[in-house]
Amino acid sequence: MAPLTRSRAIDNIPNKLMETYYQQRATAGLIITEGTSPSPNGIGYPRIPGAYSDAQIEGWKNVANAVHAKGGKIFVQLMHTGRITAKANLPEGSITLAPSAIQAAGEMFTDQDGMVAHEIPKAMTLQEIKSTQDEFVLASKRLINEANVDGIELHAANGYLLNQFINPKSNQREDLYGESIENRSRFVLEIAEKVANEIGGSKVGVRLSPYGAFNDLQSHYDDIEDTFIYLSQELSKLNLSYIHIVDQRVAFGAPDFTTDIKKSIKENFKGTIISGGDVNSIEKGEAIINSGLDLVYVGRPFISNPDFVEKLQNNLELKSPDADTFYSPGEQGYTDY
Ligand code: PHB
Repeated sequence: MAPLTRSRAIDNIPNKLMETYYQQRATAGLIITEGTSPSPNGIGYPRIPGAYSDAQIEGWKNVANAVHAKGGKIFVQLMHTGRITAKANLPEGSITLAPSAIQAAGEMFTDQDGMVAHEIPKAMTLQEIKSTQDEFVLASKRLINEANVDGIELHAANGYLLNQFINPKSNQREDLYGESIENRSRFVLEIAEKVANEIGGSKVGVRLSPYGAFNDLQSHYDDIEDTFIYLSQELSKLNLSYIHIVDQRVAFGAPDFTTDIKKSIKENFKGTIISGGDVNSIEKGEAIINSGLDLVYVGRPFISNPDFVEKLQNNLELKSPDADTFYSPGEQGYTDY
C-alpha cells in the first residue's frame, strides 16, 4: 500500500481512527504510511501526523500494534514538506526551510483561510542542514525502538524537502549542497547514511520521483539520468531495503520519461525496487513485475477497497473512491468503505 496523505491526524497526532484505517488495510502485506513529519517545520499540510513528540510516537505505536495484530507490516514514511507549506499549517514557532529562498508556485490548503500562496522559505544554513538531518535520525530511531514500526521510508520525491535539494529548480545553492550531481544528492544521501547507521539499512527505504514536476519542480534537466543513477549507486552502498519509484505520469500528470529510468535505477541498486502507477488489477501488477521490477505499489484503490487483495483474489469488483473526502477530517470516506 503506497503512502497516501489523508489528513485525519487532528493536532498532528496519530489517533484511534487512524488505527482502525490502517488495521482495515493490513492484508496489503506492507503498508507504507502517509507522509509523517520528523520536524515541526515539516508539517506543511493540515492535519498530517508527525513523529517528533511523545504523543505522536505513542500514536504510531498504537497504529503499528493494530497492523501487526492482523499480520501486516508497516513502514512510516518520513516527509518534511520544506517550502510546500503555509504558515497556518505549522505549529507555533516553526520556520519554513528549503535549500534556497525560492517560493514554490501554486497554493496550499489551510483549514483557517482556504487556499493560500506557499510560504517564502528561508535558505537553510549549514547548521539548519545538520539539525534537520538530526530530526530525521531521531524520528527514525524512536519509530523503530519505541513505536515498534518495521521500517521507515525517506520521502525524497514529489517536490518535498529532500526532492527540493535534488532538483536544480528549487536548489540554487553554491556550496557543498548545490550545483553538481554529487552536491544536490548530498542532503539525501547523508540522511540515508545517518538513519541507516542508527536503525540498520534493511529498515530503510527511499522514495524517488524521476521526471516529476509536481510541486513546481523541473521535470527535465541536463544531467537528470546521471543524477538518479548516482543516487541509486550511492543508496546501494548503504544496503538499504528498497527504492520506491513513484511514477508521476499517472497521478500527477507528469510529462513522459525520455529514458528508461526505472530500468537504470534497477540496474544500479542491489535492493528491492518498488514501482506502480494505476495498478488496479492483477494484469497491471504483473506487467510491472515482468518489466524487471520487484514489488508493486497500489495507492488510490486502497482508499475505497481496504480488502483490495481479497477482491483481486476473488475477482470482485473494486469500488471507486470519493475524492471529496480524500483530505477531510472524520471517518466519512476513510474507515467506512
Ligand atoms: C498530497 O498531500 O497531496 C501529497 C502528499 C505527498 C505526496 C504527494 C501528494 O507525495
